[in-house]
Parts: sequence; C-alpha cells; structure tokens
Amino acid sequence: KTRLACLTSGGDSAGMNAAVRAVVKMAIARGCEAYVVREGWEGLVRGNEESAGQHGVGETPLHSPPLAGGVPGSHTPSNQPKRGGFVATYGEGELLKEGEGEQTLRGRYIIRVGWDDVRGFASIGGTLIGTARCAAFREIEGRRTAALNLIRHGIDALVVCGGDGSLTGADKLRAEWPEHISALLERGDITQEQYNTYKNLKIVGLVGSIDNDMAGTDMTIGATTALHRICEAVDSISSTASSHSRAFVIEVMGRHCGWLALMAAIATGADYMFIPERPPTAADWQSSMCSVLQRHRDEGKRKTIVIIAEGAHDCNLNHITAAEVKDVLTERLGLDTRVTTLGHTQRGGNPVAYDRILATLQGAEAVEAVLSSTPETPSPVIGIQENKITRQPLMEAVAKTQEVAKRIEARDYEGALALRDPEFED
Ligand code: F6P
Repeated sequence: KTRLACLTSGGDSAGMNAAVRAVVKMAIARGCEAYVVREGWEGLVRGNEESAGQHGVGETPLHSPPLAGGVPGSHTPSNQPKRGGFVATYGEGELLKEGEGEQTLRGRYIIRVGWDDVRGFASIGGTLIGTARCAAFREIEGRRTAALNLIRHGIDALVVCGGDGSLTGADKLRAEWPEHISALLERGDITQEQYNTYKNLKIVGLVGSIDNDMAGTDMTIGATTALHRICEAVDSISSTASSHSRAFVIEVMGRHCGWLALMAAIATGADYMFIPERPPTAADWQSSMCSVLQRHRDEGKRKTIVIIAEGAHDCNLNHITAAEVKDVLTERLGLDTRVTTLGHTQRGGNPVAYDRILATLQGAEAVEAVLSSTPETPSPVIGIQENKITRQPLMEAVAKTQEVAKRIEARDYEGALALRDPEFED
C-alpha cells in the first residue's frame, strides 16, 4: 500500500489547502495511506521528535489520542466533533479551545490524516499544515535526515506544493535517494529490509506560488487570488486618488516575474507600469514616463496610478524603486504622490474559485502521477496548459524557470518570455 505524504513549502499561496485536500482525498480514494508533513521541508527534517526511531517499517505513528476523524478511509463518527481533524487542533483552534491540539501535535510533523481531516480546506487561505523556508534542507545532511524520517514512517511517495526553490529541493531529494539510502544503511540507521523496501521514492510537484513564474505552466496555484487581491487594493486606492487628485505608486510582489504587475495594470487600467521583462528602453525612463502621465492629466484624469513590480529595473539593470518613481512624479510633474507597498496582503486571504479548482484538479492528478510512476519515470510537475492539466518533467520546468531569470539578467527579454511560454509571440 502506497504511503503518500503531502507538504507545502516556501512562500504560501492561496489554494495550497485545496491542493492538500485533493491529494489527501484522492490518495485515500485510490487506496493509499495519506500523510501530511507540517511546516514544509523543515517538518520532514525534524520528523516526529517524541517518536523518532520508535517506528519500524509498516507501523503507523498515529496520533495519541487519535484525532477525531483521523482514521483513513473512515468518516467522522456522528458522536465526535464534525470538524475535529488536526487542522482544527492546529490552525484554527476549535479543539485547541477545548484544551487539545497543541498537546497533540507538539513535536509531531509527520501526521497520518483521514478523509475528514481536510474537510473545509478548499476555501481557506494560506496553508493550514504550515510552511517554512528551510535552511537545513539545502544541505545534504538535512536531506538525508528527511530521507530517514520518510523511511521511518514508511512513506514512499511525496507530493510537494511550492515554488521553484521548493521543487528544486524535491528533485534533489529524489536524485540523491540511492545515495541517501546506501549511507543510511551503512550507518545502521535503517535495516536491510527497509533499504530493500524503500529503494525508490516517488515525488510529484505542484506549483504553489503567487508569482506565476514557473516555465511550462500557464498558471500557478495562488497567482489568480493574489491578482484579485491586488485589483481590489488598486480599486480602493483609485477612489481616494481621484478624490485628492493624487498620484499613487503601487508596488506589487512577483520576485523576478512581472506577471502580477502586468495583469493588475491591465485589469485596473493603470496609467503606467514597470516589469522586469520589459524594462524601459530609454535610459531616461523618467522623461518617457512623465510624458505619458502628463498627457493623461492633460486629458482630464484626476488620478495617476503607476504599478511597479518589485523586481523592476531600468535598461542597465539598475533596480527601479517605488520611492524613486514617487520622487520623479513629485518633482517633475508636481503631483501629490504616495507610495503603497501591497506586501503580504497579496498572499493572504481565501482563494478565489479558480485557485480552488486548479488546486483540486492538479492535486488529484498528482496522486495519479504518483501511482503511475516507475523508477525510470522522471519526477513530474503538474501544470496547466491551454486549460488542460499537464505533467512534465519537474527538473526541466525548474531548470527553464531558472534560465528565464538568467536571460532577463542578460537582457534577452524575448528569449526569456519564449522560454517561459513556448506559445509566446511578441
Ligand atoms: O515567491 C512569493 C513571494 O511572495 C514573492 O512574490 C516575494 O518576493 C517573496 O515571496 C516574499 O517572501 P517572504 O514572504 O519570505 O518575505
């Protein structure tokens, strides 16, 4: 029986919970045992502190006391709290309020879950099983400890939902797996029987990121929600901007990718925008911007909205900051200008319907990919292209994504966009 664990890693994004829910439910429906790993790779490196080393192959490190509804494949008995899974104990605190929860989960990162444990996940923002940016997992020893913890819990398949950094970690773990298990056997950390049983680790990636920066997929889980949050914020800012006839420079996230800024600018009818993939062609970007904005004012606009991606730069690759843009608008155009950095409001909040659906379809596909994978199959990442859920080799997608960043640095913007989206035409 496949023991499949799901974890979320890196920056959170709306829809990650829907992905976990889909993976858990699909895994159970397909006859697997389902687990979640709390706190991303960090949790896998830590393992279950109180029980480390106590579980042999085939034993289940179940919760003690058992979580309501936590028995795989079974539904919550009617005399138990309906929303009694570990999430209630961990994040939202229903059981916590009743005096459980923290006690149940302290020091436990790898948790077996049942059908009801993920009830209600689809509509909740963030990631209820926690995430972290894990330094230990970047080191080979950290990944070896993670491998040991997987084997101790009898887990032979992992679905990882995260951005390109998290998925690179996933691919590394799988590539190094033979080396890890040999070393663990040699060190006496695992038995020969465990070595034979866990020769292959199956890993499948799901792209959870607000940045929508992964090559080879049209949309990442959480990007649409973040875009929606940005649009709401820009709409709110627009009305006060109009009242005061002010200018606003609004900085949005996206790391090296301008997708959020570009789409927000289109959706809100912004006056001007800066994105890394299309930096201003003129060295004097200040004058080009001012002439456009002045024209809009001359045409009677009472507000000026400039959207700037956090990774924006000029044609010499010097970072353009929101503060710099503000100074230009104030000094050259005499506009009363404010800067708003939207920050983590973009990442938080409940997922929009699209992200729930995307995460659900992709989560289900991830389980199918696990079940059909062979030792020879490269780890896949689940994407969406032209409205169809796709699988492609994980490392290829990650390598392309990293190459996009390099091409932008080399000012090969066409090349970067063509790599990110093969259908791209200028
Ligand atoms: O990758 C997602 C993202 O939100 C980026 O857009 C942003 O640059 C970064 O993460 C912020 O990271 P943190 O939450 O660690 O500050």
